[in-house]
Amino acid sequence: MSQDRAPLVAALASHLAVSPARLHLPAHKGGRWVDPEFGQLFQARPWALDLTELPGLDDLHSPSGPIAEAQQLAAQAFGAEETLFLVNGSTAGLLALILAAVGPGDVLVLARNCHRAAFGGLVLSGATPAFFPAEVDPLLGLPVAVEPARLEQALAAHPGARAALIVSPTYQGFASDLDALAAACHRRDIPLLVDEAHGPHFRFHPDFPRSAMAAGADAAVQSLHKAGGSLTGSALLHLQGPRLDRDRVRLMARLVQTTSPSYPLLASLDAARRRLATRGREDLGRAATLAQSARKAIQDLGLTCPGGDYAGRGVVGHDPTRLLVNVAGRAGNGYWAEAHLRQAGVQVEYADPANFLALVSPADDPAWLAALVTAMASLPSGEDGGFSALSALLWGTLPPMALPPAQAVRLAPSWAPLAESAGRICAELVCPYPPGIPVLLPGEVVPPGFPEALATLAALGCRFPGSDLLGRGLAVL
Ligand SMILES: Cc1ncc(COP(=O)(O)O)c(C=O)c1O
Repeated sequence: MSQDRAPLVAALASHLAVSPARLHLPAHKGGRWVDPEFGQLFQARPWALDLTELPGLDDLHSPSGPIAEAQQLAAQAFGAEETLFLVNGSTAGLLALILAAVGPGDVLVLARNCHRAAFGGLVLSGATPAFFPAEVDPLLGLPVAVEPARLEQALAAHPGARAALIVSPTYQGFASDLDALAAACHRRDIPLLVDEAHGPHFRFHPDFPRSAMAAGADAAVQSLHKAGGSLTGSALLHLQGPRLDRDRVRLMARLVQTTSPSYPLLASLDAARRRLATRGREDLGRAATLAQSARKAIQDLGLTCPGGDYAGRGVVGHDPTRLLVNVAGRAGNGYWAEAHLRQAGVQVEYADPANFLALVSPADDPAWLAALVTAMASLPSGEDGGFSALSALLWGTLPPMALPPAQAVRLAPSWAPLAESAGRICAELVCPYPPGIPVLLPGEVVPPGFPEALATLAALGCRFPGSDLLGRGLAVL
């Protein structure tokens, strides 16, 4: 290999040369939705902004100057008592929260549709998970929400649980009843931790679901970089109420984050907060209107594209800017549809077996959505390949747990052909990404039907980072 090559630099350059319609993250969409002052500075002098803890620039790990003030402004804008800036995404926030809330052997009650970052928290903390099922929509083949009654049952079954963790909204924009979920936890005086990675913008427009802080959650992590306009990797951790030890949360946030935080990332959080707080209502209203008319056009093509009228399964609201399109019975599977759209010059956020997801932000050019609708009109019809049922099986089953993930990852695995793995104890994280919801964790027993479903999805083009299901097989204990 020649050292003259820089393949990643080359890949970025060629992506920009094609420049497809950006119906994907991050929401600033190439700097089209920004705070004007930061936008100008970042455009004019990106290298000069790459600084460290110089005099006057404060220190993320011991803030007392502009970072402290920016965090206080964020807390005020997002309705928290305290907000921490993060430079390693919501992943860092989830790790910090889990490490602060539970220790080795403690029980953490959590919904099975939690992101893989929560699994990292289980391994690092040594806590024992008590999973409860999320509600799965059979047509979409995806978990959509968490029913308060299911959380109640899980808490009743684990009276010693120290905290509960849920995701709301989902990647696809479905929101759960956070008021009821928080109340269920508070009746037992334990904190509700909310992975609100996809909902940092909710607070700034009344047509969006209620935010976790407004609903009384004790903590929420938000990927401001996903839907709030900051740079990729930057995120927020919000805290309120007496149920979490704030000193411990701050300590854990320091432990899981770099000692060299990027100032452009930190400043982009400050800038995105200002934009949302001062112009969020107008910006988000524009995005919602644009997305709603695309949704209507997609529905007029005879496709399912759920919106605010989605009801049942614990869903109490939907982010209007998320366009989840179900292609079962059209192109047959989401991966195929995503590739079809890319050929038509439209890059969507992700595909799963039965759907694809397009993301609209205040930055969007109406021509991008017109191109999406046009490309969808030419999706061939086809047989329903039954992919919703396969993913509903994977995301709707709670595999029995033979031993906690924190123990299982420390044991030496062997390899089993996928087809022969049912009934074995899984030793790896099997996690289709996106959407990043694990279907098997280390320590879980592989349920019947999983090997066949996983093989079908892998053959369709579903990515399982870190796994080699059709090659080496499954790591088992
Ligand atoms: C539901 C959910 N939670 C957490 C994360 C992790 O967020 P981040 O990428 O900001 O670390 C993601 C990432 O996609 C996610 O979808």
